[in-house]
Order: sequence, then C-alpha cells, then structure tokens
Amino acid sequence: MSGDADGSSSGETGASPGDGSATDGDDARALIYGSYGYTGSLVAERAVQRGLAPVVAGRNERRVRRQADDLGVEGRAFDLADPGAVADRVRDVDVVVNCAGPFVDTYEPVVEACLRTGTHYLDITGEIEVFRAIAALDDRAREAGVTLMPGVGFDVVPTDCLAAHLYERLPSATRLFLAFEGFEGISPGTARTAVEGFGATVTLREDGRLVAVPIGERTRRIDFGDGPRLTTAIPWGDVVTAYHTTGIESVEVYAPVSWTQLRAMRASRPLAPFAKLPPVKATLRGLADAVASGPDEAARRGGEVRIWGRVEDDEGSATARMRTPEAYEFTVRSTLAVTERVLGGDAPPGYRTPAGAYGPELATSIEGVELADC
Ligand SMILES: NC(=O)c1ccc[n+]([C@@H]2O[C@H](COP(=O)([O-])OP(=O)(O)OC[C@H]3O[C@@H](n4cnc5c(N)ncnc54)[C@H](OP(=O)(O)O)[C@@H]3O)[C@@H](O)[C@H]2O)c1
Repeated sequence: MSGDADGSSSGETGASPGDGSATDGDDARALIYGSYGYTGSLVAERAVQRGLAPVVAGRNERRVRRQADDLGVEGRAFDLADPGAVADRVRDVDVVVNCAGPFVDTYEPVVEACLRTGTHYLDITGEIEVFRAIAALDDRAREAGVTLMPGVGFDVVPTDCLAAHLYERLPSATRLFLAFEGFEGISPGTARTAVEGFGATVTLREDGRLVAVPIGERTRRIDFGDGPRLTTAIPWGDVVTAYHTTGIESVEVYAPVSWTQLRAMRASRPLAPFAKLPPVKATLRGLADAVASGPDEAARRGGEVRIWGRVEDDEGSATARMRTPEAYEFTVRSTLAVTERVLGGDAPPGYRTPAGAYGPELATSIEGVELADC
C-alpha cells in the first residue's frame, strides 16, 4: 500500500467519476471497507482465495497495512469523516463492500461517496434504520446508475429469498412470518450493533406500516423441523426488505426464547431508556467488545441455521424451511456471491434487496443451502 502524509493511502485512480457502473468483468475490483474486523477479514481472505484481488480498507492504517501485506493485495487506510475524501478513495473501484458496523455510523459517507463516483454499494447491515435510509436513496441511485444493496449477509439474504419463494407460491399473501434458530455465538460488531438497537420495543410491519410492539409481547410456537419451539418477535431487517421484495404488508420475524429469557425481556422494558444514555451505551459497547469474540473456525464450519417461513391470506397459506451454513460462514459466502455478480456486471441500478435483484434462487445457489416446502 502507498501511504499519504496523513497516514492514509491513496491507491491508484482509474475510472472517471460519476460515469455510472464501471463494472467490466475481469478488471472489475471490489474494495472491502472494515476489512480487518471479524467479518470483514473473513470476507477479505475468502475473496483473495476466490481470485478477486480486493482492495482492503479501513480507518486504522497499521491494521490495513498488515492485512494488505498478509494477503498480498492493495490496502487503503481512510476514515469516514469526509464523504468527499471517501469518494477519492473509492473512485477507481467498481463496488464497495462495507463490512464496518454498526452501519448507522458508517453507511452514510460510504453511500454518498458511491453515489458521487458511480460505484456500486453493498453492505452486511441488519439495521432497520439503515435499510430505510438507503431505500430512500433509490432515485439518486438510479440516476447515478449504481446498485445500493444493504444486507447481503445472513441478514437478510436467506430470509429475503425465503420470503420471495413463499410469495411466488402464494402471490395473494398479506402476512409473512419468518423465524430462524441456530446461532453459534456473535461477533464483537454484532454485539455492539445490538447495543445500538436495544430498546423496550420491537419493530414489525403491520398493514404496510412499521409499528413498535413491546419487547417480549409477541410469541409464537414454530416448528423448525423437530417440534414446536417457543419464539418471540425480534427486530430484523426483513420488516423493510421483505416488504420491498414481495409487497406483503405485514411482516414479523421471530427467534427462539426460553420462558426465563422472555420474562427477563419483559422485565427489561423500563430499563431501556437508560441504555440510550451515552455513558450507559458506552459501557454496554465496551462490555460487548469484552464478551463477544465471534464463533471460531470449528463452530463456523460445523454450525447450521434453520429458517422457517410462512405466508398467509384469508384463503390459504404456504410454509417452507431452509437450512444454511452457520450465520457468519453464510455471510461470507453470500457477500461474495453478490459481489461476484456485481463485478460481473449484474448490478441493477437503484435500491435493491438481494432477492429483489437476483430472485429466490440467490440463496439456494450458495453452497450448503437447502430449501424445502412443507
Ligand atoms: N448481516 C449479517 O448477517 C452480518 C454478519 C456479520 C456481521 N454483521 C454486522 O457487521 C458489522 C461488523 O461486525 P464484526 O463483528 O465484523 O465487527 P468488528 O470485528 O468489530 O469489526 C468492525 C469493523 O468496522 C470498523 N468500524 C466500525 N465503526 C467504524 C467507523 N465509525 N468508521 C470506520 N470503521 C469502523 C472497525 O474498525 P476499527 O477496529 O478501526 O474500529 C472494524 O474494522 C456489525 O454491525 C455486525 O452486526 C452482519
């Protein structure tokens, strides 16, 4: 990598700014931002193994340089304080794969830089507010000729594809229920992002509108394949993305919970406002860093997630189950599957959901994914 006086690296310039999609097959390049984080480094390593020769990038020059040297690729160190400066760093690549989260802190300058330079944008967010904010940029993305596709990881590729599959089976559906189980542990960034989203309520979609219901209030018994389990509604990106993909106006997402956890969730409601106070949030973020290290390689290789989905209307219903590799392993595979499509020129302009752009087959095209109707 080549360093500037400010400790950043400029890389090389190529495509001219604002000239729409610059993807042109073999020469197309991806820049992975947040590439030395837990998930970013898995994505970067696998991208190199797949011959993509990505540019690795992040705000810590020492970590970027070490990673670039280890992987034998170009590195660029820059922070996100100034979208204009970010634009200069992404101008000559074809797609930015943003792995730096919480994305509420990072999406805006990166997306803005991508819109200015005609660079496609992907990320692995699961944050409802981020999906909403990026979806609102649809017109600008179409004008710029770029794809804006947040959520190309476990959140939301498999559930988005399951929703699209179920919608194809029952196009008159008015209600969508999704659920998953089988997480093997969470990474530091995921824990920190959860702290950001912690609250007394869970966001769902009802009759086309996002609504907040008290945490722990909605429960369902869901059969992931070996009998019914207690689950409760969780805030998950599909309340935005599945609505975009299918148009189904009521969307709820569930995850397993024990009665003890459910009682704790309900009891935590009065505490939620305190978690928003800056000192408390800082403490919780620090705690998240200390306790979450992410699943190790054995857990990633051996893990499996089971997903369940159902659509209904007053006339009928359709149900299906999906199995995927462990969630972080899936995230690496799905992120690279989408990145490769974009680099290959399959990058429809505008705000896009994964299944909206590539159909329900996107998930089943990923190694280790099985889909079965029931
Ligand atoms: N969609 C999915 O299924 C899925 C899967 C995995 C992860 N995620 C999400 O991806 C994010 C990253 O998770 P992780 O566990 O990989 O986190 P991590 O190990 O903590 O890494 C986060 C990376 O983002 C960078 N970063 C964070 N805030 C930044 C900022 N404001 N400006 C510039 N860089 C910033 C960090 O750089 P520094 O170290 O320099 O701060 C680091 O490189 C989380 O939001 C997580 O929820 C989603």
